[in-house]
Amino acid sequence: MKWKQEYSTGNDEIDEQHKSLFLFSEEFRDVLNNGFGQKTYDLFLEFLAEYSKLHFEFEEECMLAHKCPAACKNKDEHALFTKVVTKEIETFEKLGFDRDRAFELLNKIDTWLDSHICRIDVQLKDCIEQG
Ligand SMILES: [Fe+2]
Ligand SMILES: [Fe+2]
Repeated sequence: MKWKQEYSTGNDEIDEQHKSLFLFSEEFRDVLNNGFGQKTYDLFLEFLAEYSKLHFEFEEECMLAHKCPAACKNKDEHALFTKVVTKEIETFEKLGFDRDRAFELLNKIDTWLDSHICRIDVQLKDCIEQG
């Protein structure tokens, strides 16, 4: 999936981070579609966990700074996303790489990003515009 204008949050840095998340998911989907990914799945999961953590922290701070009414809900949903990633890391450590499970994770990431950004993250825009 690709970033679209309706995902705009009014904060360029957050928008860039969202673009990177979409791009990262898209690139790994290409890797899987080409029959690869087994050797780099651990790196993908590691990057996803680290990058989403940094992004969530940055965005949560930004919402607090702008007194955004979605701040609490944002934090709660971030925790749910983190849980999904942590669970997959645990499953991967136990059972190893599984192509179907990897695709399933990418689908979850894309669906979550789309829904979360449109409902929650974009609320930042009005808060920033109102100063
Ligand atoms: Fe968010
Ligand atoms: Fe976000």
